[in-house]
Amino acid sequence: MAVQINPSILSADFSRLAEEAQAVDGADWLHVDVMDNHFVPNLTLGVPVVESLAKATDTPLDCHLMIEDPDRWAPRYVEAGAGSVTFHVEAAAAPVRLAREIRAKGARASMALKPATPIEPYEDLLPELDMLLIMTVEPGFGGQAFLDIMLPKIRRTRELISKHGLQLWLQVDGGVSASTIERCAEAGADVFVAGSAVYGADDPAGAVRKLRDQAAA
Ligand code: DX5
Ligand code: ZN
Repeated sequence: MAVQINPSILSADFSRLAEEAQAVDGADWLHVDVMDNHFVPNLTLGVPVVESLAKATDTPLDCHLMIEDPDRWAPRYVEAGAGSVTFHVEAAAAPVRLAREIRAKGARASMALKPATPIEPYEDLLPELDMLLIMTVEPGFGGQAFLDIMLPKIRRTRELISKHGLQLWLQVDGGVSASTIERCAEAGADVFVAGSAVYGADDPAGAVRKLRDQAAA
């Protein structure tokens, strides 16, 4: 399993987004948290900012939509230049149709589960996805403590992926740091979002390298 490290620009300085995106050269994807103050109690950025970011960096954009009505909005993020678009299953009216539309438009389709959302009801949907995101904090804010209680869900999801012989990536997001990444990797995650652990470091690119080494160990 190839390890991927996706720094979250939520923890970056929003007045210098282009520079902050370039400060994590060597990252696999740049994780962009879109929040609408309805699905989560926080408000971040939208389509125009993603469009500008896509032009400002060669790192592909991994857009995590924490918004209501992703059925309407997710395709707009593909058009804005995202290489991967993640919608929350709790918010999607028609997740299969939406995943197919994201793929048809040329991006990777990904579905996210909040901590209290089980994976089992969605087993049959997995072939429609390129990535599954298991939240390891309640979505809405960076810098929260990692929820250890999510480790069994990561493990069960990895087992389902293997059982069906699928290639989809398994992403974890929330509280991923030098002290938690090994447990996530051991449970079966292969794509790691890290906000404060990367942008809170003096050397963000160095933090990405260290996290990658730890996850791959
Ligand atoms: C939280 C966001 C995360 C956040 C992670 O709702 O989805 O991507 O940026 O930040 P850290 O790594 O600081 O928990
Ligand atoms: Zn996120």
